[in-house]
Amino acid sequence: MSRGGGRGHTRVRTARGRSAQSTRWLERQLNDPYVKRAKAEGFRSRAAYKLTELDEKFGFLKGSKRIVDLGIAPGGWTQVVRRRLPKAAVVGIDLLPVDPIDGATILQMDFMDDDAPDRLIAELGGAPDLVLSDMAANTVGHPQTDALRTMGLVEAAFAFACETLEPGGAFVAKVFAGGADSALVADMKRNFASVKHAKPPASRKGSVEWYVVAQGFKGRADPLIPA
Ligand SMILES: C[S@@+](CC[C@H](N)C(=O)[O-])C[C@H]1O[C@@H](n2cnc3c(N)ncnc32)[C@H](O)[C@@H]1O
Repeated sequence: MSRGGGRGHTRVRTARGRSAQSTRWLERQLNDPYVKRAKAEGFRSRAAYKLTELDEKFGFLKGSKRIVDLGIAPGGWTQVVRRRLPKAAVVGIDLLPVDPIDGATILQMDFMDDDAPDRLIAELGGAPDLVLSDMAANTVGHPQTDALRTMGLVEAAFAFACETLEPGGAFVAKVFAGGADSALVADMKRNFASVKHAKPPASRKGSVEWYVVAQGFKGRADPLIPA
């Protein structure tokens, strides 16, 4: 590793056994201001700032009492939630193991498993008022396939939100390629008072990642969890 290429910029020499791609990734990480900030402020991921910035714009965290974090690993979003809402109940789920986060319940399982929704609600102890999803499928490098796989996760997360949210609740999810597809957006608009897309500054410019923020859930006609 060497200093060079401008003030404070860290260059990474391609080492034997390290691909050019991973060298670029390492160099980007070392020079990313959000990575540095996350380290300084004790967040496990730079993703923490995406949620913070989305909340600054849309204000969905305020007043939330029961929150579900889909795709929680390594835990940056839940850390933000816990710091902002120390009294709220938070349950997260991920395929990957996650180090414990004080005050949060973490399930290591596939959200697509049939019993995942019931497990989440049982752990939460009631209907959520905020469902967050930062889930992304592992990319295979084929843009259409990657987008489709992530859209499958978004659709499942949206269905879960519609089946469980308290009236007035919110749903925030990562989507790809400029937004959710038009049929899904139409469905969201039927179920929520406001549906907006945003790309927070912490989301890398080169990435196709965007977020959809749906607020003001209109409620189910036949709630699964009676009020
Ligand atoms: C971008 S990361 C989430 C980062 C997190 N928001 C944070 O702030 O630390 C996306 C996560 O989604 C998880 N994921 C993808 N598919 C999943 C599934 N079917 N069930 C549960 N988690 C899943 C991945 O394992 C990965 O950890």
